[in-house]
Amino acid sequence: MSPHLFVRRRRGLDRLKLLVSCGLVSAVALAALAIPVRGEAPIRFIDSAKVWVLSGGNASYVLGVNERNELQSVYWGKRIWRDQDWTVVKSSPQWDGVDPSTNTTPEEYPGWGGLRFFEPCLKATLAGGVRDVVLEYAAHDIRGDELSVTMKDIGGGLAVELRYRIYPNGVLSKSSVIRNASNAVVTIESAQSGAWQLPAAEGYHLSYLAGRWGEETLYTREPIHRGSKVIESRRGSTSNQFNPWFAIDGPEEAGEEHGNVWFGALGWSGSWKIAVEQTPHRDLRITGGYNDFDFSYPLKPGESLSTPPFYAGFTDHGFGEASRLMHRFQLEHILPRPSAGHPRPVLYNSWEATGFAVDEPGQTALARKAAEIGVERFVMDDGWFGARDSSLAGLGDWVPNPKKFPHGLKPLIDNVKSLGMDFGLWVEPEMVNSDSDLYRAHPDWVLSFPGRPRSEARNQLVLNLSREDVKEYVLASLDKLVSENEIAFLKWDLNRNFSEPGWQEAPPAEQKTIWVRHVNNYYDVIDRLRARHPKLEIESCASGGGRVDLGVLTRTEEVWPSDNTDAFDRLSIQYGYSHAYTPKTMMAWVTDVPSMDQRSEPLEYRFLVAMMGSLGIGSNLTKWNPEEVQVASRMVALYKRIRGTVQEGQLYRLLAPVDGSLSANEYVSQNGKQAVLFAFLHAQQYGRLAPSIHLRGLAETAVYRVGVVEGKIAEKQETFSGAYLMNHGLTPSLKGEFDAAAVVLERLD
Ligand code: GLA
Repeated sequence: MSPHLFVRRRRGLDRLKLLVSCGLVSAVALAALAIPVRGEAPIRFIDSAKVWVLSGGNASYVLGVNERNELQSVYWGKRIWRDQDWTVVKSSPQWDGVDPSTNTTPEEYPGWGGLRFFEPCLKATLAGGVRDVVLEYAAHDIRGDELSVTMKDIGGGLAVELRYRIYPNGVLSKSSVIRNASNAVVTIESAQSGAWQLPAAEGYHLSYLAGRWGEETLYTREPIHRGSKVIESRRGSTSNQFNPWFAIDGPEEAGEEHGNVWFGALGWSGSWKIAVEQTPHRDLRITGGYNDFDFSYPLKPGESLSTPPFYAGFTDHGFGEASRLMHRFQLEHILPRPSAGHPRPVLYNSWEATGFAVDEPGQTALARKAAEIGVERFVMDDGWFGARDSSLAGLGDWVPNPKKFPHGLKPLIDNVKSLGMDFGLWVEPEMVNSDSDLYRAHPDWVLSFPGRPRSEARNQLVLNLSREDVKEYVLASLDKLVSENEIAFLKWDLNRNFSEPGWQEAPPAEQKTIWVRHVNNYYDVIDRLRARHPKLEIESCASGGGRVDLGVLTRTEEVWPSDNTDAFDRLSIQYGYSHAYTPKTMMAWVTDVPSMDQRSEPLEYRFLVAMMGSLGIGSNLTKWNPEEVQVASRMVALYKRIRGTVQEGQLYRLLAPVDGSLSANEYVSQNGKQAVLFAFLHAQQYGRLAPSIHLRGLAETAVYRVGVVEGKIAEKQETFSGAYLMNHGLTPSLKGEFDAAAVVLERLD
């Protein structure tokens, strides 16, 4: 926003607030506009009712202490502005002996203890072998938008601090810190970040993102019935199979722009679990945190275990608004640095062009071509280090291969820089090939059990990053690499899942802590590396989209969503991805055809698909003909004009790629001055013409100029009103197979 506009908006807000104080505009109207009433704190404790009200945007979240001193969920939904509405919280009435009140009361953070038979947030073995955790409210503290509630087990040996934060647009986070307050070891067997509760009803639906390698984040939606549905990773990292995001709509079904949607995502890059449980009484509980499979975390007296943040939000404006809230939240509060005004650079990556066969002349030739079409960052992928000629050897030895780079990386980096680009490098620091100098020197550094097989996947083993010496080695080798070379960007990969998860040097009771320790140490390495090299940027990759989550995104600017770069498949992968994550983080490459599906979409189509995220190119540019170079240059130039809108604007998913032959996305810039429409036809049938596409998020009374059209639209005028664009719509003249169009609209004031 320009300073001028900002001042104008501020003045407008102040005037509105003045009208409120004069009684001319009601506080209700302001709340509807999601404008905080003067002096209204985001978190308020209503003493008389023992209730906390957390409000932001258009949502309120309310919890309280009931007559048994349990912390109970009271309300989560559309904002309720009047504090006096909340009265003393009562537990659920007793149903019968097998379903007592403790089992039906929606507790915020239930322990496994007493008469409770559902998914607990905390399960532990306390001093003396006691396997009974009953948590009661002890104290609370409010600091601005943060609330901390301390709970204590009735035996006194365990304390849990529940941490809440409400963000300005209504997104919340929950996490817990579990502390051993006894004199003996306490073993935590399940540690969840928290539970979200929805009232009893029929008709809820669950949406989640599922897939596998090559088809990550496919959007899935299904009815919720009684029982539990678990999405999870038991693999040590976030996983290509499920992503830690959920959305619930209901009881009436929601659509893209209407209906109640509760949505959430875990900020954790290791094994995780989200259980969606509809109880026999039809309440809904969504419990998430560390995966409790193979989980055991001993705490010595005074020690504590923190759980990852579980973020969530609510909207009554459908899945589209749910993702727009998530995107904005990520841009403003999750990504490592203030995101606004720092567009992602157009990137080139060598992997699909050269595989492991990288060397100085080959990469220099690619870099020259990349610079010609407007690329801003040149990334050399796998193959540059140790004895790395294939996946069989070299992982762990982070020094340039002397045959491929006889003078180190400097000559290549100098070349890349002289061409006006910065330089990025691929690394896979948590892994080792058994054929490597590192493994020969430290065979004890990998996850394994004594005398048992060490299963290799992609010919590699997992370094035991829980060990301090391994962690320090990884940090030191990356630090050296980045200190000695002008590296602006690392693509940090992880190409296998954990197996035989033994930590031979640790006492048996501590071995299962690797699931948590590995990830915390991975975070620690990134945090320290970034602190030493504040300009360094990182992409998270794990055999494609195996490490995409809000934990890693607090530390990395972008992620690699999938190794599948077929543009048609990408439409669906990106569609699912966009439900949970902002397009700014979504690296998307244009690559050569035929794709892994043996499909050959036109270059324009491939570009337009990739331009809906953070644009990258992975083609073998040395093989492109002049016409292809020309198309690419035009597309890259167009992308630079619109990337602010794509990366930081509001996304409207107009037509889903799963629902028919035509799909379309629209992005509207934050200040409303630019909008971009992308439309894709998969296959024309029966000679039918594409229908009009109705835009959204524009101003009815404003006039927009069609600035650039890639592909065609039927309408011939140069300008259109917002009302026309949204109600009549634009008609793309898309024909045949894999045809695509993009329209850029500039608002005329
Ligand atoms: C993984 C990544 C690819 C590429 C290769 C290199 O598969 O997802 O993009 O970096 O590793 O070995």
